[in-house]
Formats: sequence, C-alpha cells, structure tokens
Amino acid sequence: MAQFGTVFCDNIAIVHYKDGSWQQPALEPLAPLSMHPAAHVLHYASTCFEGFKAYRWDDGKARIFRLHDHIARMQRSAESLCLPIPDADLLATMVLDLVARQIDDIPAPPSSLYLRPTLIGTLENIGAAAAATTEATLFVLASPVGDYFGDGAQSLKLLVDDQRARTTEQLGSTKTGGNYAAALGPTLAAKARYGADQVLFCPNGDVQETGAANFLLINDFEVITKPLDTSFLHGMTRDSILKLAADLGYSVNERNFTVDELLHFASSHEAALSGTAACLSPVGCLVYNGEEIMVRDGKPGPNTQRLRSALQDVQYGIAPDSHGWLTEV
Ligand code: COI
Repeated sequence: MAQFGTVFCDNIAIVHYKDGSWQQPALEPLAPLSMHPAAHVLHYASTCFEGFKAYRWDDGKARIFRLHDHIARMQRSAESLCLPIPDADLLATMVLDLVARQIDDIPAPPSSLYLRPTLIGTLENIGAAAAATTEATLFVLASPVGDYFGDGAQSLKLLVDDQRARTTEQLGSTKTGGNYAAALGPTLAAKARYGADQVLFCPNGDVQETGAANFLLINDFEVITKPLDTSFLHGMTRDSILKLAADLGYSVNERNFTVDELLHFASSHEAALSGTAACLSPVGCLVYNGEEIMVRDGKPGPNTQRLRSALQDVQYGIAPDSHGWLTEV
C-alpha cells in the first residue's frame, strides 16, 4: 500500500459559499484548485478539516464510521474560526455521493477510504485580518489508505515534553491546519534527536495529546485519559474506544494526570495513541529528560490489542454496531 495520504480518487465533492449561502454542490474530477492570491485562507489561515473512513464490507457496500459526529465537529471547528458553517445535510450528501461514486476504489479491510472534508476561506482581501471571510469553498477528498502508524504490531516511541502545548488553548479542540503546523517543528526535532514518532505535549506537566492523536493509559481494569476541555482535539476514536471499553467492563477514568503520574503508570499500564489515522496504536517507550523509559516491557499490550480489535470489528462488520456509528452507502 502506498504511503498514507498520497493516493487520491478521481473525483472530489465541492461546493462554494457566497452571498450568504451555500451554492449547489457538485462531483468534479480531481484537479488543482484555482484561487486568488489574496484568498483569506492563504494569509489568515481560515481553514479547518475532518478525517474519517469508509470501510468496504463483504456485501460490497460501504459503511462510513461516525459520519454525523465528524460533521458536527467540523461545524464546531468552522464556528470557532468564524468560517461559514457547513450545512450538516449538505456535507453528508456530498460525502455519501462521493463514496458511492468511488465505491470500487475502497480497499478491503484493514485498509479503507479516508475522507477529508476541507473548508477554506476564499474572500479576496488581504486587509481582512480581523474580519471573517464571507466566501468559502468546501471540498471532500477521498484517499484509499492503509495504516498510518503501522498495524499495531510495533510500539511507538514518544518524546514527553513537559513545557510546550500542542497549540493554543483557544484552538486546541478545533481541527485546523495551524495546530499541526505548531506541532511540526517539535515533532521533527524529536524524530531527529531521539527517533521519536511523536511528541506528547504536557504543558506544565499536564498530559494532553500528541501532534496527530490522543493519548490513553490502559490496564486490565481501566482506561485513563484526559477529560474533554478546549485544550485538545476531541477525538472520535478516543470517544469510541472509551465507549467500547465501558461495554467490555473496563472502568473509564477521564481525569487529568501529570507527567510524574505518567512515569509511575509506565510500569503498570499500557499506553496507546488513538485517532482516525492512528486507530489505537501501542506506545512502548517514553523519552523524558533524555532518558528512555519503557512502557511495561515495551511490547504492544493485550488490552490495547483487545480494544483495537473491538473497534475494528465494528468498523469491518464483524461485531454488531450497537452504538449506531455506521452509515451505509
Ligand atoms: C486523523 O487521524 O484523521 C488526522 O487528522 C490525523 C492526521 C495526522 C492524518
């Protein structure tokens, strides 16, 4: 399978916003977008996106995982950036039409079709630094993908940064490119210096999230993760794992914890990253103050594997969708 995010379907769904309303959406051949060099997004970063997946089942039909929840999150992101808020039914229809068109491009599980709705401000006005864009484009890209962090058989290494936040508290729960830009420099530095896959951002010792995924601690009895606040992304995979863990009898502890506690937990708990791209990926090593600390024996743990499988079983149609997370195409 090609590298995650580098292969695209032949069509995109696209719609424009102007004169106070969304225009007629269309499916169009994938092609470069043309926009004015003064477009608001290019100067003032008026953009947000989503990421979710469609799976192809043995019956030949596709199922989209948590479509409506992702659309609701995109609406919240748009609102926080003062972008025109996509109409939920309009965006759902765009996604469904695109997936129906590209159904033959969806690879069999564990691969999938990654869907990337993206909203950009297109107002032509470089003076609009303190003004909302009144024109926008919303498009949906479709990309057949495999794993982002591997198939769960290899453990990841995280650099624990107890100073920096991934982004600002104001935009932490907004899915916007600027947050990934903020995490990029620290992540590349951690890769170069320690061979780390990601940075775990823990400002003032508060364990938050990595650049591309949420962070969880798991043992035979409980799952621990930070409670929702505006400082970090409200991952749909995080939420799904917590609900499946509760179904399986784990106690779910959404609570703040510090780097000191994290280092203490490393001998008793498994650690994992969750996200649409990450699925649930095991963490085997933490680098803190230049020292490598193993998470248990450093190998992927049984509880992480159990919860990863529970999630995938729903996504692949092996287990019943008891939470109503799937939309059939
Ligand atoms: C996702 O998990 O969908 C993301 O947006 C993360 C990105 C690094 C691929």
